[in-house]
Amino acid sequence: MKNLMVTGGAGFIGANFVLYMLQKYPAYRIVVYDKLTYAGNLDNLLAVQADPRYHFVQGDICDAALVERTIQEQAIDTIVNFAAETHVDRSIMNPDAFIQTSVYGTYVLLEAARKLKLERYHQISTDEVYGHIPHGFSSKETDNLAPRSPYAASKASADLLVNAYFITYDLPVTITRGSNNIGPYQYPEKAVPLFATNALDHEPLPVYGDGRQMREYQYVTDHCEAIDLVLHKGVLGETYNVGTAVEMENIEMIALLLQTLDRPTSLIRYVKDREGHDRRYSMNVDKIRALGWEPNHTPHEAIIETARWYRDNEWWWRKIKSGEFKAYYEKQYGHRWQEA
Ligand code: NAD
Ligand code: TYD
Repeated sequence: MKNLMVTGGAGFIGANFVLYMLQKYPAYRIVVYDKLTYAGNLDNLLAVQADPRYHFVQGDICDAALVERTIQEQAIDTIVNFAAETHVDRSIMNPDAFIQTSVYGTYVLLEAARKLKLERYHQISTDEVYGHIPHGFSSKETDNLAPRSPYAASKASADLLVNAYFITYDLPVTITRGSNNIGPYQYPEKAVPLFATNALDHEPLPVYGDGRQMREYQYVTDHCEAIDLVLHKGVLGETYNVGTAVEMENIEMIALLLQTLDRPTSLIRYVKDREGHDRRYSMNVDKIRALGWEPNHTPHEAIIETARWYRDNEWWWRKIKSGEFKAYYEKQYGHRWQEA
């Protein structure tokens, strides 16, 4: 493994993974293959822009000809697939691109990996494929998938395709299922960066329902380390959950953000809940721990560090929030403010 194609590498986790891998492995080359949707941003990769080991190709993972040509021209031996539409709220408004990219696009990548005999195909998945998890339970990798949003269903479908290619064609695959990531370069429509940047601007924080939904917030570089470990030591055909095993209610996360940024709790606004909102995710992470991984941040540390990054990096998020974001924000929250 030396020539990686990181699909979706201009997005939040993908870019953090590219920065981490190029720093850790001096002999690796990375080709970022990304469509540059609204969520893709080459600013995330500025630190490696001039690195001769990094190359960027703008392309859609649904474009089989370009995928194959890139693999051949760049002598790719490994695909790590981060490319996806990733926001549950957008998937409720318009599921089409979610299905296209995660179902058809994953199929295109798997076919290319099979045809061109790649050493490894790694799929980045999510805890959302398990659906809502009642208190007292946590999901194991072997549990049935029970996705409840179009986003989660598109990701679960991709996982099933990856497993089918392992069983049917013996394709060397692995899957990691991460919990909610936070940290630098997350598009500010997701909860933590949205709340942090709204708070910095003294704008209200739209909290869905009662705010007592539970998530495992993990720091993005911890997730990247787990992916690296699975790429190098994971067993082919296996899936690994990656999370902190510590859940937190959204309202607790918000209180910590506000405290870190020195903003009052009066900014909190309870608004109409998300349709089909999963109340709780919780994963059993024994399997990735047994491989030798531990997160370096507690969820509390991850939230504080993330809040400080947004406080210190206005250059990155302010131009995003003044662009396409505004139309989305109005569509998503306009009626919610009125009803609140
Ligand atoms: P993101 O939305 O920030 O980035 C997605 C990237 O994929 C963008 O750069 C976008 O341009 C690119 N992309 C989208 N469609 C594409 C296509 N058809 N062809 C090529 N590129 C395309 O997402 P993220 O938060 O970085 O998530 C990355 C991956 O990790 C996703 O697969 C997501 O499901 C998974 N994941 C995310 C989280 C999380 O908390 N963010 C948790 C677990 C798993
Ligand atoms: P999000 O970042 O969209 O991730 P997930 O994929 O887990 O839904 O949201 C995290 C949590 O925050 C989730 O419980 C929904 C909630 N949330 C709000 O309360 N208000 C918001 O404006 C957003 C975007 C999310």
